[in-house]
Amino acid sequence: MKVAIIGLGFVGLSLAAYLGSKKIKVTGIDLDNEKLQSIKKGIPPFYENKLKSYLKKAIDFGTTFESEITKKTIENDLIFVTVGTPIDKNNKINLKFIKSVANSLENNMHDTKHKPTIIIKSTVVPGTTIHTVKPILERNSLKESVNFNLLTNPEFLKEGTAMEDTINPHAIIIGGTNYTSINKLLKFYQKIYSKKNQIIKTNNSTAEMIKYANNSFLATKISFINSLAIICQKIEGVNVDEVARVMGLDPRISKQFLKAGPGYGGSCFPKDLQALISFSNSVGYKPELLTAVHNTNNNQIKIIMDLITKNISILKNAKIGILGLAFKENTDDIRESVSVNLIKLLLKKKCKIIAHDPMAIENTSQIFKNKITFVTKPELVCTDTDCIILLTPWKEYQLIKEKNFLKMKKPLIIDTRRILKIKNKKIKYIGLGMGKE
Ligand code: UGA
Repeated sequence: MKVAIIGLGFVGLSLAAYLGSKKIKVTGIDLDNEKLQSIKKGIPPFYENKLKSYLKKAIDFGTTFESEITKKTIENDLIFVTVGTPIDKNNKINLKFIKSVANSLENNMHDTKHKPTIIIKSTVVPGTTIHTVKPILERNSLKESVNFNLLTNPEFLKEGTAMEDTINPHAIIIGGTNYTSINKLLKFYQKIYSKKNQIIKTNNSTAEMIKYANNSFLATKISFINSLAIICQKIEGVNVDEVARVMGLDPRISKQFLKAGPGYGGSCFPKDLQALISFSNSVGYKPELLTAVHNTNNNQIKIIMDLITKNISILKNAKIGILGLAFKENTDDIRESVSVNLIKLLLKKKCKIIAHDPMAIENTSQIFKNKITFVTKPELVCTDTDCIILLTPWKEYQLIKEKNFLKMKKPLIIDTRRILKIKNKKIKYIGLGMGKE
């Protein structure tokens, strides 16, 4: 089996590294030459636990990387499409990368007897594989089933555990209508995965919908618990974590994705929610619940801002310490990070920002340049600050000794993830979703 993977982001590169490490012949393709040069040297262009060692194994086995789709690409048996699907300014899914890949594949697919199976792994709204990708591939005499096969196979990996999730997916969805190609991919997966990795066969649009269903449900859980956290915060002695822990004991609910925080960020939930809302509107249903989930999430930053302004009377020139810049722990990704958006707001109010993150400083400094100060040790955000706001739940923040917080001008901590254990009464500690403000 020869495999091509087009688009080397978190999904594509993790898959390429895993398949290559399993001694499968893989060619990774990405237009971004700078990224490609780094990957070829075995250096992932973003941080992801274990990815580097899998990538090394893959390269040692002979995984190759190229910058364009050519006739050689078509000679692969499986062609995975893992390019990004951002949203445009109207919050609709933007399929420009998917369309461009489909165009290139079609251009190169003529004059060959080889019949590749093209697999759309990118997150796309229901109907995209059949109504957008297929017509492009078929625009000049080529036919599905005759010249190529087309499947939909969404991905559920999370950043931070991308390798683990690629190696051990909770479900593998194969969407399609051609049983020969469905079975071809099924057999491929059965070889690399164990029996406990459930494989589900369905049609293309259902596979596409399942991906949005998962992401929007998880986002709903987060906005739900974030709403409860705001209520809990107004009741003396009530802690949202205790409420969530007991809720999670109910197997119908489960404890996962019930951690209240500053709101979900990252490259998936915010854009997928909006894409699904726009899609739903376009098919004639106004999705009130999903809109509420999205609005609740957007409102979280105002809740944090209110806590800050309630506790610091004059924001101008106030020195604010930020613990955590990445949108979640164990990643250097700052896309849609609440922390970055909050810093922007605080800078508008003329605050002085001193920030720490174990991995995301380099990415964040590209946005703020010298407008904010970065420190490489978390304790250093304390000196003379008026307030510290913890936004990313990095474990090492729990190791900061209380004596460091006493170095603040007037010790005040707003902990949006409630991971710090503060006992000293001289430190004003506000846990989002805890007790009374
Ligand atoms: C998410 C999904 O979890 C993956 O299954 C999916 O494949 C991926 O999107 C995608 O569509 O590509 P990811 O964005 O990497 O993965 O990160 P998550 O772990 O889901 O976290 C998203 C955000 O929700 C983070 O800001 C995180 O801090 C927040 N979150 C998560 C909470 O605030 N509370 C929770 O209980 C869980």
